[in-house]
Amino acid sequence: MSHTYPAADQALIAHIIRKPAFRSLLELPLFAWQEILLVLGCYTVLLGGSVLYMQDVLPYLLVLCTSGLSIYAIFTPPHDATHGSVSRSHAVNDLIGSLAAQPMVPGVTVSLYRYLHLEHHRHTGDPDRDPDESLVSSGPVGRLLNAAFVELKWTHWYLNHLEKRSVRERFQDLTSLLLYVLWHVVWLNSPYALEFVLLWMLPQRLGLLIVAYLFAAIQHPVGVLEQARPFQATRMFRGGHLVRILMLSQSQHLMHHLFPMLPYYRYNTAWKLSRDDLADQALIWDTPMGRLRQPAPQSRPATLTVTVERIESITPEVNAYVFAPATGDMLPAYDAGAHIDVHVGAGLIRQYSLTGLAGRNRYSIAVKREDQGRGGSRALHEQLVVGKTLQVSRPRNLFQLQPDDQHAVLVSGGIGITPILSMALALRERAASFELHACGRDRDMLPFAELLHSAEWRKHARLWLGSDGGLQPDTLPAFEPGYSLYLCGPAGFMDHVRALAANRGWPADAIHSEAFQADPANGQNTPFTVELARSGRVIEVPANTTLLDALNQQGIRVAASCVQGLCGTCRCRVLEGSVEHRDQFLSREERAAGLMTACVSRASGSGRLRLDL
Ligand code: FES
Repeated sequence: MSHTYPAADQALIAHIIRKPAFRSLLELPLFAWQEILLVLGCYTVLLGGSVLYMQDVLPYLLVLCTSGLSIYAIFTPPHDATHGSVSRSHAVNDLIGSLAAQPMVPGVTVSLYRYLHLEHHRHTGDPDRDPDESLVSSGPVGRLLNAAFVELKWTHWYLNHLEKRSVRERFQDLTSLLLYVLWHVVWLNSPYALEFVLLWMLPQRLGLLIVAYLFAAIQHPVGVLEQARPFQATRMFRGGHLVRILMLSQSQHLMHHLFPMLPYYRYNTAWKLSRDDLADQALIWDTPMGRLRQPAPQSRPATLTVTVERIESITPEVNAYVFAPATGDMLPAYDAGAHIDVHVGAGLIRQYSLTGLAGRNRYSIAVKREDQGRGGSRALHEQLVVGKTLQVSRPRNLFQLQPDDQHAVLVSGGIGITPILSMALALRERAASFELHACGRDRDMLPFAELLHSAEWRKHARLWLGSDGGLQPDTLPAFEPGYSLYLCGPAGFMDHVRALAANRGWPADAIHSEAFQADPANGQNTPFTVELARSGRVIEVPANTTLLDALNQQGIRVAASCVQGLCGTCRCRVLEGSVEHRDQFLSREERAAGLMTACVSRASGSGRLRLDL
């Protein structure tokens, strides 16, 4: 099974994360009043209710309900704390999370729950590896029983997956479990055993039942693996503000799974900022009580049917095609740099970048006929006629403009102009600073040469002609912070431009190139060495192992959720050394500040990193 989301889904999540407004949701305060007040409020209700019951001020049923609801509500900070989203300080995060966990499961710390919860995130829907799966897949009665005794289910799962914990962690975990048992033994053998049962054991059962039901049992469709279908593996619940408040934002639990660094009080804003992007992802909507059924999740239509609306020969070798929707539906929108898969026929599928020239509700591509190629472009040139219908995928974008660019340098070789042109159109529309260098052997063969040479484009675009693209050593500007270089063309041409850019001071992670694979790494993995500053330990990371796995194998625990560079959970601080960033989460500023993601990023070359671990 793949351990990464489908490339298009990765790209969509990365696109959402890069929006500046969304990005700001991931910046955490040191002390979040929403978390602290929740903890204090729940403790107050729990303790106050018990005292008032003992003084015969409140009836038992009321105290049972308010205490049960408090135990349910106080689960939220530990849930957030597993991802480090309670506080930007790791120590504060774990302290608040562990304090909040005590009324629920005394003795247990965030560290133990983090292990269970991140395994759930990594393997959502997998019957063997998701600790919450039995909460989801049992029948209605089994689900309620599992929910009511969820800590026993989790303990059972934990004891069957002990091998993943280091000896030290096992000792800590088993100490926590022992404390939990002792807590019961001591109280049940004390003169206050009856009060203990009434004021804590029964409310705890009620609270855990609600927690497990609302946070897990109803949230995930049976048999849908998050790694395969991240947008369908977690539900969204209708019901407006009331349901959202009663569910403490878990009616938008999908936000938590897609963006686990979000604290609960920001799910709704995150949803507002991402709902347009997620509009055509066939999300699974439901109502909380509707989950006692388990309807099959909807499936996302695999392709779109389009009609060839226009064909234009723009060079002797290149045709431009405009596709319109074959039905009355709108075609999904896309961002500059996106591409579509075109089902050419006879099982041939080819990727073509969208030029952005045809405007809304149209897809335009330009195809160079490659007679010596694998047949896709030749088939398109020979078979596509105006009015013909064909299948295309939804747009995917693995070549996006960075939102925080102060200046963009766009460089294309030959037909590589197609995504570069869409970027130029987008940058021009938002009056952003950019320059475009379109390279080719001769002008007649250079797609869109007339357009780029027109008066309205001359300010931004330059044409370079020559057998190696015609670029001069000083064509590219010297690198400055805030600059990005976007590159598309034949492999040899791109290597040439990268070499020119390196001579002008461009770091590798400021150069973005078109790639139809999700892995943004340009090169091969090489082994490297990390030194852990706090212990002085030195760990070798082999070429076939991630930094995260190498650390885990040595018992150095770094929390990780998505393990594909999308969520930021595994970020750690680099004190020395040069990083080859391969994630899609960290901003340029965070990278400059020394952060890296341990799940996908590596040292540059065979270098050495010194980490703040
Ligand atoms: Fe999500 Fe590394 S675990 S970015």
